[in-house]
Amino acid sequence: MPSNKKLLVLPGDGIGKEVMNEVLRVIEWFDRKRLATFEVTEDLVGGSAYEAHGTPLHDDTLRLAMGADAVLLGAVGGPKWETLPFALRPERGLLRLRKEMALFANLRPALVFDALVDASTLKPEIIRGLDLMIIRELTGGIYFNEPRGIETRPDGTRRGYNTQSYTEGEIERVGRVAFELARKRDNRVCSVEKANVMESGVLWREIMTRLHQAEYADVELSHMYADNCAMQLVRKPKQFDVIVTDNLFGDILSDCAAMLTGSLGMLPSASLGAPDNSGRRLALYEPVHGSAPDIAGKNLANPLASTLSLAMMLRYSFDLSEQASLLEQAVQNLLDRGVRTHDITGPGMTGVSTTEMGKAIVAELERLGG
Ligand code: IPM
Ligand code: MG
Repeated sequence: MPSNKKLLVLPGDGIGKEVMNEVLRVIEWFDRKRLATFEVTEDLVGGSAYEAHGTPLHDDTLRLAMGADAVLLGAVGGPKWETLPFALRPERGLLRLRKEMALFANLRPALVFDALVDASTLKPEIIRGLDLMIIRELTGGIYFNEPRGIETRPDGTRRGYNTQSYTEGEIERVGRVAFELARKRDNRVCSVEKANVMESGVLWREIMTRLHQAEYADVELSHMYADNCAMQLVRKPKQFDVIVTDNLFGDILSDCAAMLTGSLGMLPSASLGAPDNSGRRLALYEPVHGSAPDIAGKNLANPLASTLSLAMMLRYSFDLSEQASLLEQAVQNLLDRGVRTHDITGPGMTGVSTTEMGKAIVAELERLGG
């Protein structure tokens, strides 16, 4: 039996709490079956942390995260906190976690389950069998660089500004993650920037090309402008295997890719740091969807994105790929049998609730592996 792993669970706000309850149900099952045991600690992040502590991420929570073998996060944000100053907003809690834990590589797979081909707004033939991976740089670029701010100019009008920049080192380390991952998939990387208008994009392309020639010539590398990539994602998404891009373009393109699969409620993600000398790497797993205030508290949310994030955690942080595959298989079986939450129901189907889906996952796991 694999030994105890330290897990920090941060449900956050809105549907984050509901979906994370179902993830805990699954964790409990793995524990009961002695397939993977975890030492689970739960804490606050985002708006709920702000309510309790006046800050979206308490220093103690950050310390717990730094000491955990993996962090599982639900979602942050909500209308209640939208008027707060920037530094106190729920999103800052998540951004600070990413930055302080140095989680520079964000893996966002977009995988279309056969059963859900009709849930997409795109034609079935365009997306059937789709399996692509977006690698988003997560701790640099315009999200974090200085100078940033809103200033009042001498004439009394204001100016808002942010800084886009990337160092060679930042580009190279995320590029390396992309090439390594491509080797385990279809061996193709598409590097995305705006080298036609931005210097940071020119450097991005140059470094990716250099890294490719020096260490990864066996992988196929192509380059694409971000606007073209957005268009290609809806035109012919199956042309892609691994896409590697910066923080802002990655944010946008991953939402776009997510919707190819039918629902934002299906997409997991992993955010990884660099391995230390002992091979340990900090990691955070979260669904790509947000806190969805419109359906929060109604037991309607789809817990599959966070369940699949748990599967990514089993695979990437703990090398438990059998358990990960078991969980993914359970999800696929449920979808095949038409067990769906409301966001992915087809015509004539009735949706199940968040908790019903969670229970169904455990029942399916029991059938498969219990
Ligand atoms: C995401 C989200 C976040 C981001 C928000 C919540 C800060 O949109 O993870 O994609 O912009 O990175
Ligand atoms: Mg986003």
